[in-house]
Amino acid sequence: MQTKLKGRDLITTQEWSIDELETVFSVAFQLKREHAMGVRHQYLQGQTLYMIFFDSSTRTRNSFETGMTQLGGHAIFLSPDKMQISHGESAKDTANVLSRYGEAIAIRHCAYGEGNRYVREVAQYASVPVINMQCDVYHPCQILADYMTIREKFGQNTRGLKLGVAWTCAPNYIRPLSVPQSLILMMPRFGLDVTLAYPPEFRLMPAIEEQARLNARDAGTKFEIVHDFDEAFCDADVVIPKSWGPLVYTQDTKEGLALIEKYPSWVCDERAMALTKKHSIYMHPLPADRGKEVTDAVIDGPHSVVYDEAENRLHVQKAVLVLTMGGRL
Ligand code: CP
Repeated sequence: MQTKLKGRDLITTQEWSIDELETVFSVAFQLKREHAMGVRHQYLQGQTLYMIFFDSSTRTRNSFETGMTQLGGHAIFLSPDKMQISHGESAKDTANVLSRYGEAIAIRHCAYGEGNRYVREVAQYASVPVINMQCDVYHPCQILADYMTIREKFGQNTRGLKLGVAWTCAPNYIRPLSVPQSLILMMPRFGLDVTLAYPPEFRLMPAIEEQARLNARDAGTKFEIVHDFDEAFCDADVVIPKSWGPLVYTQDTKEGLALIEKYPSWVCDERAMALTKKHSIYMHPLPADRGKEVTDAVIDGPHSVVYDEAENRLHVQKAVLVLTMGGRL
């Protein structure tokens, strides 16, 4: 149990040790239990979190904002087009000024090649913790909630569970790489064997795939990349099929959407779920493109835990906030 997380940035789980991440889960489960019992836990009274959203959000905004309310503090939603960022104010000045007012800054910035750089620049100049609410490379809060959900369903020991992460065909818009990248980085560190399936044009950032291999090697787990949808599902305990863009291959939106449409059979349906173990769970960070990447029968079916997963965003993020904004120096 780590007791000195006050002031820490959370940009990627890769920069947090297993011990530190276990502390987050431990606090998250405690806060969830207290919440269920109606226990008030206002550990952040009088504290303010600034949330800068360059991109749209349902879960992230509302779980952070509600989480701060439940912790006795306040979250302020900031849209760059209503800030002086829109007139070119630097990350340095934004970071310094917000650090003089409040206790933490959270940022969502998913623009490919820009988001992570901006989050890191703010973190460099901020004197308060900076939390990544999703960038072009990582989505740490989503993956913390995912692992918390897996623990709830399978128990404390997750070693040897098979996780299938599969690309799916959702041709309405280009989604970032941050969810699958964060999954393949963190899950092998907690003992899961990961099979990542995507069509050739949908590879992830080479450095992230390589780091995932190293993480799996160090943890004594398996990490494999395949180009066959069904392989991610065969005998899987957990499946997380979701769409992402061919961003490493092309950043041209028209070309990207055409590539997505090239693989219409990469859909999570009851046939695919029948390949998994009987007790398997279906997860998705949401929003899901119902009727395209996943059928209603699956997302509303007996394997689906998507609403538990979305709820756990609240609890696990509250744990991150309590530990980084509150806690001990
Ligand atoms: N999963 C997730 O981050 O959802 P939002 O985009 O709605 O925040």
